[in-house]
Amino acid sequence: AQYPEAVEILQHFSLSEEKMHEIIHRLTKEMNMGLKKETHPRATVKCFVTYVQDLPTGKERGKCLALDLGGTNFRVLLVTLKSETDVDTESKSYVISKALQEGPGKQLFDFIAECLSDFCKEHKIEKDNIPLGFTFSFPCKQNGIDNGTLVAWTKGFQADGVVGKNVVELLREAINRRGDLKVKVVAILNDTTGTLMSCAFRERNCRIGMIVGTGSNACYVENTSNCETFEGYQTSSKPNMIINCEWGAFGDNGVLDFVRTSYDKTIDLESVNPKKQIFEKSISGMYMGEAVRLIVVELMEKGVLFKGRTSQTLQQKWIFNTRYITEIESDSPGHHRNAAMVLDQLGIRTTNERDLACLRFICEAVSVRSAKLAACGLVALINKMNAKDLVVGIDGSVYRYHPHYHALLMENMNLLLKGSVKFQLMLSEDGSGRGAALIAAVSNK
Ligand code: BG6
Ligand code: GLC
Repeated sequence: AQYPEAVEILQHFSLSEEKMHEIIHRLTKEMNMGLKKETHPRATVKCFVTYVQDLPTGKERGKCLALDLGGTNFRVLLVTLKSETDVDTESKSYVISKALQEGPGKQLFDFIAECLSDFCKEHKIEKDNIPLGFTFSFPCKQNGIDNGTLVAWTKGFQADGVVGKNVVELLREAINRRGDLKVKVVAILNDTTGTLMSCAFRERNCRIGMIVGTGSNACYVENTSNCETFEGYQTSSKPNMIINCEWGAFGDNGVLDFVRTSYDKTIDLESVNPKKQIFEKSISGMYMGEAVRLIVVELMEKGVLFKGRTSQTLQQKWIFNTRYITEIESDSPGHHRNAAMVLDQLGIRTTNERDLACLRFICEAVSVRSAKLAACGLVALINKMNAKDLVVGIDGSVYRYHPHYHALLMENMNLLLKGSVKFQLMLSEDGSGRGAALIAAVSNK
């Protein structure tokens, strides 16, 4: 039996079908504002054009470098597209310290160039002038395939002197400052775009790329003629354009207040970007754990959980990693081994079944809501495209590692679509590397 106090709190996290349809309706409206030239400047969901107009044919070949900045790891990759089923990837991860994330932008880009140089020298390709795709997973206004101006940092990054700049130029300058590398930066892309492209290489019917990881966002295939912020939207010979929605910012103008809880508001205020990325803050891995922590702390302080004992460790903001949610929900039903281990790491030693079950119950409520919101986003895109049969490519640590996230998405998509659309949700392999290589291949033609 659950603690009534927990049940009462978690009620605020539940989303009725009716509310979900309202969310879809509102997101669609915000997206249309982003797409229209007249309303784009004040739109919160920007719907940036990506300048990627060709989906892969499966025939792309060649060697390409990629940089992946904005997820859990910063990585340098070397991708060789050998055939549709044979893609060779070598990669190395580097840690971007908090100091680099929050310090001068020049230092951040110098570090990126240093890692690139280190990687290229290891592979003896530093003079080969290989094309490079820059997967830069932050909101960028693109003016071309190799030109993107950072509009705002998200997900905890705050480096100075980058917002408002063309980040491709910042990268090229950093590479030139070193003088020990010859590479050709040919494209900038969002991780969602990479995810869509990578999935579409194998699944020609892929029309959406979604990330549920540190952050959350999606891109989809729009008719070029609807992309008013693209200068060639009426004359382009190409029918399609991938749109990077930047749906994380949905709700920044208050339209999601009808479903936000007091915990969401606290998380927002604790974050480095208050009042921004409201949708993302209820969905993604950077924030899910903090929601669980806030609820646990409240119940602990009320004396409901842990027989009135408290933990200093648990009082620390952001200490509850979203990885813990994944672990706790991986316990088989009725068992609480991982839950007990997580609590132990956080300074609470207990075998009390009821407390452990309650912790899981809290995690589930946060996960279910995240999946419901992501499902709403996907349904909005599917309806927008009027798609009847499609594949959705998905990546990010929450989708990849959470034991039930895929099933939760499926369940809620089925609830919302009621069998009117045939769809498949697929883990997209290495969007940042493979996707960048595909875009570089297409744009280097
Ligand atoms: C990775 C992709 O697998 O997932 C990245 O290659 C992407 O491009 C990342 O940014 C998102 O997930 P997370 O959990 O690392 O933020
Ligand atoms: C954030 C970024 C977005 C990215 C997403 C997933 O929302 O703004 O560009 O796609 O995180 O990594």
